[in-house]
Amino acid sequence: MSDIDRITQDALEAIAAAGTLDELDEVRVRVTGKRSELAGIQASMRDLDPEGRKALGQQLNAFRGTFQAAFDARHEALAAAALDAQLESERLDLTAPPRRLPPGRPHLLTQVEQEMLDVFVGMGYRVAEGPEAESGTYNFDLLNIEADHPARQEMDTIYVDGFDDVVLRTHTSPVQARVMTTQAPPIAVVCPGRTYRADAADATHSPVFSQVEGLVVAEGITMADLRGTLLEFSRRMFGADREIRLRPSFFPFTEPSAEVDVSFEGAGGNHGWLEILGSGMVDPNVLAFCGIDPDRYTGFAFGIGIERVAMLRHQVRDIRDLFDADARFLARF
Ligand code: DAH
Repeated sequence: MSDIDRITQDALEAIAAAGTLDELDEVRVRVTGKRSELAGIQASMRDLDPEGRKALGQQLNAFRGTFQAAFDARHEALAAAALDAQLESERLDLTAPPRRLPPGRPHLLTQVEQEMLDVFVGMGYRVAEGPEAESGTYNFDLLNIEADHPARQEMDTIYVDGFDDVVLRTHTSPVQARVMTTQAPPIAVVCPGRTYRADAADATHSPVFSQVEGLVVAEGITMADLRGTLLEFSRRMFGADREIRLRPSFFPFTEPSAEVDVSFEGAGGNHGWLEILGSGMVDPNVLAFCGIDPDRYTGFAFGIGIERVAMLRHQVRDIRDLFDADARFLARF
């Protein structure tokens, strides 16, 4: 066997054995490169006589043809395999079901607050807001709650450290005072927001809760307007056949004051009354403190706990469920 035949056989075997395009290229360099045995043979041609040169030239040409054909065929096969592998690894299954995130939604408290505001906005009220860190002036003084008034202790006020006379508002009633000191009657506002008291959390108490405050001040406003408004509110929130009942109560900022119960019909003919809010006719002192003439104007006000409405409407038995952010609970609403 001539050297060229041996080189040809080696080369064909190496080409067949190359598993990747890189390996194939290494074969090419090894067999035909500058330092290959073949290059040495080619260089020796100039020492041959014309006859021998011609014979060797033909052998080399034949080798090149054979090598190139085998190389090209293998190259094509390996390139196709590489492309297949890449396509396979980058495959997108367009029929696979998408990974769905469960849709989000407003928290139950947000839903109920929005519904409550909608009812009042539908009656012509505007929405007003005030700060959660509030001065004692608005939270207490302008609302006729004096420094030594027992209501001030009952409210378990959280004071803000490092500030004189700043509290986390204990109710949304200070927003009434903010509205009355800046707007002239007629006034009809609802004031939603968070409120704070130094209460330990249990099934019916939370140190953070929320209220919607209502205030109407105009000429000739009476308790009948209050009653009609709260009856309409109760029916829109709890059902068209609800009745309400006003029970005498006391708040420093209203006179007279009333707690309002809404009727319910439970299972098995079981019926009764549930307290939903505090209300009353704005105390003339409060009007005067806020710069409104109590001889000309009267008004009513109310404060509704949003958690309480949400719990009554949706049979939530523990107020803490409204703050725990347990997805299983929240998904129910
Ligand atoms: N601010 C009272 C509370 O948090 C609720 C309330 C009662 C608000 C009577 C009022 C009202 O506006 O007239 O307990």
